[in-house]
Amino acid sequence: MKDIILMGASPLSANSCCILSLLFLFFLKIDASACSSSDLIALQDFWESLETKILEWPLPDANSSSCCSWLGIQCDFLSGSPSAVRVVGLNLSGKSLQGVLPNSISGLDKLRFLNLSNNYFRGHIPPELFYLKFLEVLDLSKNQLSGTLPQLGMGNLSSLRHLDLSNNKLTGAIPDTFQSMRELEIFLAESNAFVGELPASLSSCSKLTFLSLWNNSLEGSIGNIDFRGLVSISSLNLGWNKFQGHIPEVLSGCKELKILSLPCNNLSGQIPKSLCNHGALRFLDLHANILSNISASLDGLQNCQNLTTLFLTWNFKGEHLPINGIRGFPNLWGLDIGFCGLRGYFPSWLRHSRDLRTLAMSSNYLTGEIPSWLGGLDHLITLDLSDNLLSGEIPVSLSQLKSLRSGVSKKDTYLCCVPQSVYWGKGDQIISGSTFKLYINVPIKINLSHNILGGPIWSEFGHLKYIHNLDLSWNNLSGSIPEELSGMVNLEKLDLSFNNLSGSIPSSLTGLTFLSSFNVAYNHLQGLIPSGAQFFSFPCSSFEGNPGLYSNSPHSCNSIQEKTKLKDDGLNDEEVEFTILGLPFAIGATMGFLFTVYLSMCCWGQNYDYE
Ligand SMILES: *[C@@H]1O[C@H](CO)[C@@H](O)[C@H](O)[C@H]1NC(C)=O
Ligand SMILES: *[C@@H]1O[C@H](CO)[C@@H](O)[C@H](O)[C@H]1NC(C)=O
Ligand SMILES: *[C@@H]1O[C@H](CO)[C@@H](O)[C@H](O)[C@H]1NC(C)=O
Ligand SMILES: *[C@@H]1O[C@H](CO)[C@@H](O)[C@H](O)[C@H]1NC(C)=O
Ligand SMILES: *[C@@H]1O[C@H](CO)[C@@H](O)[C@H](O)[C@H]1NC(C)=O
Ligand SMILES: *[C@@H]1O[C@H](CO)[C@@H](O)[C@H](O)[C@H]1NC(C)=O
Ligand SMILES: *[C@@H]1O[C@H](CO)[C@@H](O)[C@H](O)[C@H]1NC(C)=O
Ligand SMILES: *[C@@H]1O[C@H](CO)[C@@H](O)[C@H](O)[C@H]1NC(C)=O
Ligand SMILES: *[C@@H]1O[C@H](CO)[C@@H](O)[C@H](O)[C@H]1NC(C)=O
Ligand SMILES: *[C@@H]1O[C@H](CO)[C@@H](O)[C@H](O)[C@H]1NC(C)=O
Ligand SMILES: *[C@@H]1O[C@H](CO)[C@@H](O)[C@H](O)[C@H]1NC(C)=O
Repeated sequence: MKDIILMGASPLSANSCCILSLLFLFFLKIDASACSSSDLIALQDFWESLETKILEWPLPDANSSSCCSWLGIQCDFLSGSPSAVRVVGLNLSGKSLQGVLPNSISGLDKLRFLNLSNNYFRGHIPPELFYLKFLEVLDLSKNQLSGTLPQLGMGNLSSLRHLDLSNNKLTGAIPDTFQSMRELEIFLAESNAFVGELPASLSSCSKLTFLSLWNNSLEGSIGNIDFRGLVSISSLNLGWNKFQGHIPEVLSGCKELKILSLPCNNLSGQIPKSLCNHGALRFLDLHANILSNISASLDGLQNCQNLTTLFLTWNFKGEHLPINGIRGFPNLWGLDIGFCGLRGYFPSWLRHSRDLRTLAMSSNYLTGEIPSWLGGLDHLITLDLSDNLLSGEIPVSLSQLKSLRSGVSKKDTYLCCVPQSVYWGKGDQIISGSTFKLYINVPIKINLSHNILGGPIWSEFGHLKYIHNLDLSWNNLSGSIPEELSGMVNLEKLDLSFNNLSGSIPSSLTGLTFLSSFNVAYNHLQGLIPSGAQFFSFPCSSFEGNPGLYSNSPHSCNSIQEKTKLKDDGLNDEEVEFTILGLPFAIGATMGFLFTVYLSMCCWGQNYDYE
């Protein structure tokens, strides 16, 4: 089993080791509780500017003898003239602090670590904050900070290694001052309202490992950064912006690049063939762009032997899906090429992706049969082939899917690995470390709806004990509903509507205790609707369009009108309380329609939950 946690490039830098050992020695030798008077004044001023007080700080009546031991404060003995004990770290994250950041914070002029994340700070970031030229870590994420960043001052932070401005309301351009910030390893500014182009000076940050600017309104070309300079970049996340133009060819020179996430932009052209020259890439998400030439793209991508996740949904509009000339992707865990309007047959090269967990190819125009070898993919837990033109029978081999039959391992429900959480710090110490481990939670389901599949629903599907969601609606399935389906004991949703099923609804289905959604509307079912706890809760619409179905239980569907009608028909009131009448129903959802709806939703309506 592969490890699904990727380690970042800098587990522990030499620099931070020094800080640590310095601190350690220092705490051994000296009573560290008193800070300098200038620090005390800055701290007092900071405290006074807050609207919510830090209860643990003994202010306003304190002298400097104890400030190093206050909550969240770290001091260090700094030699030099005058040598003194100075505040070097301030960590007040998650303290529900409210107010505006005072410019007096610049009085803590030896500060190396500042973490004010996850509070309610609002207003501008005072430009004076950027005078703190010893800062190595600045985390202001998850606040309500607004306004623009000073266009020059940030460049003073020449020691900065970690900058996190994410989840604020910052606007304006990202200052182009990175040429003097050569130590930067991590820069996160996601979910703000930054506009303008990517700062070209980022090209100078040869130590930059993580860059995430997703969910802003940045525009222009991604090629604004000269990626030849970013020799350490491991994760690049620029999705949900307004970038246009091509994916720069020079990205293929980034030997460490493991995660490339550029979804929901307006990127055009081909995926550069050389992108996989170094083969390190593991995660590639390019969905919802306007990329073209899927043949050339797949041909180039197959050189990425370590690629586990490939999301290409909403691109390549109407192209032909190649069958020949693709060797396949031996390490793929997740493939999503839905909503592309692709034509052609089911791709046989997927046969070599023995580790697939999720396969989504909905809303294309794939024709032909579903291949039976799919049943041999031992890890497969999401199969979404809905809204295509697939015909023939459903392969009975799908009932052999091992994960769905004998248990889904927790690991299989996650797809490796979008960078999100970057850890920096442990306890009250300054440690530079980074891991990335945001996973995409994969639903456990089979969706073959909206095709032209015929034949029966195999009784063997009852073996799929671990499936949560089975949607076979809008096909041409015939025969009866096998009573063995009651073996799918974890089933939550079952949709068999709009088929040609006959016979009765097996009463064994009342044993499916997790079933919360059930639909058999518009078939030719007959007989008694089973009465079991959850069957009472299913609405009328779950059964309509089957003139032969009836119920003898008090049901939410039961209406006086229907009773009266049935009595008029001379049916026995004891046996039959109502018949669900078929209603006219217009088939409105064509593929073209779905296309526009989903595209205009850009990407928040997608199949995956981002954790
Ligand atoms: C500082 O305050 C502490 C009590 O908080 C007191 O014991 C100490 O004498 C004070 N020192 C000075 C220099 O005022
Ligand atoms: C910070 O940068 C600005 C603009 O580059 C400069 O004018 C200023 O002197 C710098 N301040 C400090 C304290 O370094
Ligand atoms: C994207 O950013 C906006 C603020 O600019 C925020 O309201 C929204 O929640 C963010 N979206 C996500 C998915 O985080
Ligand atoms: C996307 O790019 C195309 C040309 O490449 C342009 O016509 C279109 O207006 C752009 N759309 C957006 C939303 O920027
Ligand atoms: C592919 O992954 C393996 C195992 O994680 C690793 O040893 C190898 O270096 C990777 N290949 C490249 C080109 O990064
Ligand atoms: C796709 O790319 C290949 C190789 O670059 C090229 O030969 C082919 O003509 C392209 N196809 C289309 C439809 O542009
Ligand atoms: C199955 O796919 C169809 C069409 O793509 C969609 O409307 C439906 O909601 C999906 N069903 C489930 C249970 O996800
Ligand atoms: C800031 O503190 C929060 C909460 O403790 C933590 O999750 C985050 O990683 C810290 N930021 C840095 C850069 O260490
Ligand atoms: C900062 O404070 C938070 C909350 O008190 C704590 O969880 C975290 O470990 C502290 N340390 C660092 C280095 O962020
Ligand atoms: C549906 O299946 C029946 C046989 O059960 C067949 O005669 C009919 O042509 C099929 N309809 C379509 C649209 O494929
Ligand atoms: C339903 O199935 C029967 C045979 O079981 C077939 O004769 C009929 O054509 C099918 N109806 C439709 C609408 O496909």
